[in-house]
Amino acid sequence: MGWYMVKSGLVDDPRVSQYRLTAHLGLAFLIFAAMFWVALDLLCRQADAGSAWSPARLRHAASWLVGLVFLMVLSGGLVAGIRAGFAYNTFPLMNGHFVPPEILMIEPWWLNFFYNMATVQFDHRLLAWLLAALVPWFWFASRKHDLAPRARLGANLLLGMLVIQIALGISTLLLVVPLSLAALHQAGAMLLFAAALFTRHALR
Ligand code: HEM
Repeated sequence: MGWYMVKSGLVDDPRVSQYRLTAHLGLAFLIFAAMFWVALDLLCRQADAGSAWSPARLRHAASWLVGLVFLMVLSGGLVAGIRAGFAYNTFPLMNGHFVPPEILMIEPWWLNFFYNMATVQFDHRLLAWLLAALVPWFWFASRKHDLAPRARLGANLLLGMLVIQIALGISTLLLVVPLSLAALHQAGAMLLFAAALFTRHALR
């Protein structure tokens, strides 16, 4: 996938296809997820022995959160891929609008989700708002149950990491994508994904 991505550009101009960049990023996250899951299985076998079953509703919610963070990562790949972080450098509004009027400017409409900076950045923000609502809800819901300490730790890590990641994303945007912050934001995505996986694993 890396070879296929590089083949789409990088000759005279350091740009590659946003689709291939996103696929390469997504694949890296999937490989990480598989390795992390196996590692958690091996490390936590003893700790899990005899621990209580966790509520199914909370377990399903944690699975959805893992999926949503992964979707957020793919959306971030598109933001970076079309350099949408260099436009609309204001928050929470996008140049004075919550929904910028140009989000359906390109024909046919579905191309906007991959080529239009306004739409691609709006989607990334919308998913962040969704996570900003769902993760605290999950955290409060988890407090109502008598969970294993590892699951409780996971819920705390997930909430803490989300706050850090959103702060990094907003700073990257407001400061017009300095390399160091953009790289930290990318690393933050990995840690947030790891926190979601850790929580889901602990809720088995
Ligand atoms: C809530 C969790 C979030 C996650 C998991 C996330 C994840 C990501 C990822 C994986 C990338 C791609 C990095 C790369 O390939 O270089 C990215 C890019 C970006 N994100 Fe986020 N993001 C989140 C929230 C936000 C928020 C709230 C904002 C600002 C409103 C934001 C602004 C950006 C910008 C400007 C870029 C482009 C950086 C570049 O061009 O390198 N992100 N995000």
